[in-house]
Amino acid sequence: MSESVTLTINGQKYSAEKGKTVLQVAADNGIKIPTLCHHEEIEPYGACRLCIVEITRGTRNRIVTSCLYPVEEGLVVQTDSPRVVRNRKMLLDLLLARCSENKVIKGLAAEYGIEKPSFREEYREKHDCIVCGLCVRACEQVVGVSAISLVNRGIHKEPKPPYLERAKACIGCGSCFYVCPTNAIQMEDKNGIRRIDRWKVEFKLKKCSKCGIEWAPVAQLEYIRKKWDLPAGFFDICPNCK
Ligand code: FES
Repeated sequence: MSESVTLTINGQKYSAEKGKTVLQVAADNGIKIPTLCHHEEIEPYGACRLCIVEITRGTRNRIVTSCLYPVEEGLVVQTDSPRVVRNRKMLLDLLLARCSENKVIKGLAAEYGIEKPSFREEYREKHDCIVCGLCVRACEQVVGVSAISLVNRGIHKEPKPPYLERAKACIGCGSCFYVCPTNAIQMEDKNGIRRIDRWKVEFKLKKCSKCGIEWAPVAQLEYIRKKWDLPAGFFDICPNCK
């Protein structure tokens, strides 16, 4: 049986499984902490810092990222203390300066009363990507192909295919598109082709031999078929017709 600890979140005592993070335990108990770079199927990385909480251990108080911080016996957590809110507002102000027209960031900032960044016009940018690396981690950890990576440093850091060319290892599964928290990755299925322009890739879509629907990229299905040693023709029929 797994060991458990008792901690306090926002003044309420909870029992939690040792090894879980503060974010997981908060979510298990219906306590909402905002996140951008977190996905439950992917190793946490702590990139966006939006999930910060204030913890108290003994007489020490500090701010930590809840997606990375493991629960401990006797830990006291505040998810929305004035210090947390102040810091989160500063983070959102910075994110809004970078992504000044992104709907997700604008919505989150508005929840904290920020309608426009406090930075002067010349310091505002119109990116959609917050460089959280969730697309890169999904491609590596979930799909297992590592078709993209974070390149450059500092303000020039961004997810890119190798050598900034076409992402040759990409199988078109779209995991990057599905996990991106700010919709910075566009994917389109049209006329039998899937396109992900950000990685400069195009894939032929497989047509179901029964209903005729184009349901997944041929490259992705071939990748799965070989990985699991499935017989040729295994994906000729779409999941619905099966
Ligand atoms: S969700 Fe924890 S740092 Fe982004």
